[in-house]
Amino acid sequence: MKNIKECSILSNGVKMPWLGFGTFKVPEGKVVEEAVKEALRLGYRHIDTAAIYKNEEGVGQAIKDSRVPREEIFLVSKVWNTDQGYESTLKAFETSLKKLQTDYLDLYLIHWPKALNKETWKALEELYKEGRVKAIGVSNFKLHNLEELLEDAEIIPMVNQVEFHPQFPQTEIMEICKKHNIQLEAWGPLMQGKIFEIPLMRELAEKYNKTISQIALRWDLQMGVVTIPKSITPERIKENMNIFDFEISKEDMDRIAQLNIGERVGPDPDHITF
Ligand SMILES: NC(=O)c1ccc[n+]([C@@H]2O[C@H](COP(=O)([O-])OP(=O)(O)OC[C@H]3O[C@@H](n4cnc5c(N)ncnc54)[C@H](OP(=O)(O)O)[C@@H]3O)[C@@H](O)[C@H]2O)c1
Repeated sequence: MKNIKECSILSNGVKMPWLGFGTFKVPEGKVVEEAVKEALRLGYRHIDTAAIYKNEEGVGQAIKDSRVPREEIFLVSKVWNTDQGYESTLKAFETSLKKLQTDYLDLYLIHWPKALNKETWKALEELYKEGRVKAIGVSNFKLHNLEELLEDAEIIPMVNQVEFHPQFPQTEIMEICKKHNIQLEAWGPLMQGKIFEIPLMRELAEKYNKTISQIALRWDLQMGVVTIPKSITPERIKENMNIFDFEISKEDMDRIAQLNIGERVGPDPDHITF
């Protein structure tokens, strides 16, 4: 992977940039507008939001203000848990589009697995067939959630966005995703800030003359995983995209693999209370 324009080709041929920009916990209004505008100005072309982030209006405004043509941007949103179900998902989709000031999404995801997954998935399939969304997928789906969905899904999800970082590399999920040609995507690639405390990451950053963040994000790319770091800090937004000019050796990839302790920084999808 040589530059930020490089894309994963999803199972339906749609191109998804390997590096995107996350917006979880970025406040609606000026903060999200400035962050997304800066990301687009620097060259990011993939923006990840969700209805529950309550910043879709700012994301939409930033895209408009950036003057980057809509078709050059890979825009992702997600249906929230309380909107799951066939009709309510269709409605939630329209609300997201309106807030984002667009008439289509590039990717729409089921945010968390819930009892109504199958009904929700039918709505996503419908939106996909109507051409309202270029690709559809899931998020936080464990092995059993995927297996259940696949039992009677007409369309196999194109993406599964899950917590993924060196301490939690989701080996089992990666395998099933590969088997079904589902692109794995990393949320929390910087462990929501905790990755900076890992000594090996510091050692590798020094060795490659890069930052810890750049090592972590480059590792995602070399693992074949789409990654969406979040930052509201302009220097960090820039830092996080400078990951295309070096390669982590096979030996160091193996050392990073040793960091797997099966520990999440976020909630276990089987035990969410929201
Ligand atoms: N599907 C889901 O359920 C789900 C869940 C969580 C997240 N996500 C998505 O994944 C995206 C990324 O995950 P995340 O936001 O949870 O966590 P993350 O990207 O792992 O970490 C974000 C944190 O790291 C800091 N940071 C970013 N770049 C840095 C750098 N170069 N040096 C030092 N600190 C840096 C940020 O600080 P500043 O912002 O202050 O610079 C922020 O505190 C989200 O924004 C969201 O779009 C999805």
